[in-house]
Amino acid sequence: MEDRMDKTAFMEAVQEAVEQSTFVKLSLGKPDRKEEIEKVLIRHILLKGVSHLSMTLRYPTRDEVKNYDIPSAIGMLALWLGDRFLHATLMTTEADFHLLFNKKRRPRLLRKPPSQTALPSTQHNREKRRLVAADQQKYLHALGVTGVDGKVLKAGQRKFRQINKYIEILQGLLPPAVDDRPLRVVDMGSGKGYLTFALYDYLQNNAQRTARITGIELRPKLVELCNELAESCGYQGLDFVASDIHAYDTGPLDMLIALHACDIATDIAIAKGIRAGARTIIVAPCCHKQIRQQMNNQTALGAVLRHGILAERQAELVTDGLRALLLEQHGYRTKVFEFISTEHTAKNLMIVGIKSTPKPEMATQIEELKAQFGIEWHYLERLLE
Ligand SMILES: C[S@@+](CC[C@H](N)C(=O)[O-])C[C@H]1O[C@@H](n2cnc3c(N)ncnc32)[C@H](O)[C@@H]1O
Repeated sequence: MEDRMDKTAFMEAVQEAVEQSTFVKLSLGKPDRKEEIEKVLIRHILLKGVSHLSMTLRYPTRDEVKNYDIPSAIGMLALWLGDRFLHATLMTTEADFHLLFNKKRRPRLLRKPPSQTALPSTQHNREKRRLVAADQQKYLHALGVTGVDGKVLKAGQRKFRQINKYIEILQGLLPPAVDDRPLRVVDMGSGKGYLTFALYDYLQNNAQRTARITGIELRPKLVELCNELAESCGYQGLDFVASDIHAYDTGPLDMLIALHACDIATDIAIAKGIRAGARTIIVAPCCHKQIRQQMNNQTALGAVLRHGILAERQAELVTDGLRALLLEQHGYRTKVFEFISTEHTAKNLMIVGIKSTPKPEMATQIEELKAQFGIEWHYLERLLE
């Protein structure tokens, strides 16, 4: 009886904090073993003047925000506490409440003096804290994202959000430091260098890590522009090389990045990363022509693959699925996820490989998949032979 009281008392404290406007924040942590969400961060907001709880569901590689009216939010807390999450902290201006569940899922409620007494804003669209400070980055201005006053230009807003999202993701994927040596990174198909600059600046100025980053780009004009900009920003560890990535010798690497490199350029980049022993490989593929041309339309799917968009989707699925399997075969744990909303770009799939142990048994799955889709060869597979 007392057990139930602790959980009920906690939820009543949440409700009361909302009603009495003392709610500072609420978080759920210590997820159950099977739970995919790592943490839930909850704040009180007003939508059209009505109280809601805005929940940020933190997955390993992305955040999802959902807003619930109070009865629904309390209902969800009732289901989640002691089941999906074993620890909850409610901060109010009056007190902090900690609800802890032990191995037997018995709750214990602790009440402590408040650690925060200031109320946060209840505005729905409050300004998001950005990892990249727009007004402090010379490169953002030079690349046309911000104006002379340091404010993000209307035309640069999408790019600015994309840069921030990218840094947010990379934050959690950085290989750990080894001794005091700089992190060695190559960005293949660096283009105008937005993301290369952002990563360098983040590593140096936010993460306090020294890095040696090289952007490889076919177009000499872009390379020249980026090298001049890196020099004028005083980014001594950042340079750009005009080269076909196929011909470029990376040397040993910690991290290989290739974002939106065209078609087989992504395969070349992955193969280079594997050969260089990169601890992290991050690619966001672009088009998928190499596989699309080979796809077998003789199966039952043939009837729908005459629609170009469906053939493209299938080529994407099979190409990127095989890339992930090949990475695993060659010693990488993989994650495949949507890294930025489709509102920014339709090319929003990210494949991440983290160095682990090879899985030769993946060869069977790769062969089966190829056979099923009538694929004779995958460019990456051939590069790794
Ligand atoms: C779509 S852009 C992406 C730029 C940047 N990575 C980004 O996401 O903002 C692709 C870039 O890759 C370059 N590229 C394509 N194939 C390449 C290759 N084989 N070697 C070097 N660069 C290549 C193109 O010139 C282009 O600038």
